[in-house]
Amino acid sequence: MRQNFISLVSHEMRTPLVAAMQYLELMGGNIVGALNTEQTRIVNRMKSRLSDLLALIDRWLELARIEDHQVTDDFETFDFSPVVKEALEIIKPLADEKKIKIRDMSGDDVKLNGDRNMIKEIIVNLVSNGIKYNREGGEVTVQKKQESGFIVIDISDTGFGIPEEELGRIGKEFYRVKREGLAVGFGLGLAIVKKILDIHNGRLEIKSAVDQGSTFRMYLPISTAVIGKTAAASCNCSRESNKKGG
Ligand SMILES: Nc1ncnc2c1ncn2[C@@H]1O[C@H](COP(=O)(O)OP(=O)(O)OP(=O)(O)O)[C@@H](O)[C@H]1O
Ligand SMILES: [Mg+2]
Repeated sequence: MRQNFISLVSHEMRTPLVAAMQYLELMGGNIVGALNTEQTRIVNRMKSRLSDLLALIDRWLELARIEDHQVTDDFETFDFSPVVKEALEIIKPLADEKKIKIRDMSGDDVKLNGDRNMIKEIIVNLVSNGIKYNREGGEVTVQKKQESGFIVIDISDTGFGIPEEELGRIGKEFYRVKREGLAVGFGLGLAIVKKILDIHNGRLEIKSAVDQGSTFRMYLPISTAVIGKTAAASCNCSRESNKKGG
């Protein structure tokens, strides 16, 4: 049922939008005749709106596909450190743009069992948030330790922080904390993170202090057995009043 819905959205919604985008590219490229300045402006705006819509559909499809991930066929044992490096490489342009320093202090390697791409996706999402909800020149740090069968990964930032009353709400699909100059986003990243942790039998804890920063701590079992969708990823959200950037 869910699979049908995913296919429907992909084929019946995404495909025609991609086609429409291609037609606009043709027009914008003056391939079907020269456009005047006003027409070019309108075509560019249409492209931009369409691209927002496609990005939303892709993000949503990603979430639906992760939810649908009942079999653990893609589970493998892998080294964690290269995954962090690959994730940080993906995010580097975003960090550079905001002159944000990313410190990888994840240290010695450890082996994890799980879906390598999904674990990378978690890091990409959490570090991107640490950059997006941060000031220019801020910092995001990735740290790791081991604790009774778990690898504990902290992603801390020196950013805006999250008000206490919002901590229980973030991570719900499409929920975003309203604030001035809010960075673009759909409110799906943390929902994706929680779903991935769920299928890995992991969990997420958030500590944050407004104007000081946040720490997103995730626990992943070092040796994850085959896990079903039923394992609930809990979000133990708490506030740390005197924390500075994690
Ligand atoms: N590190 C952070 N510091 C401050 N606020 C954060 C942080 N991470 C998340 N938030 C808040 O939680 C909300 C939800 O985050 P989430 O990653 O789910 O969605 P998003 O970043 O808005 O969009 P996207 O779907 O593109 O990730 C954000 O809109 C933001 O208000
Ligand atoms: Mg996000």
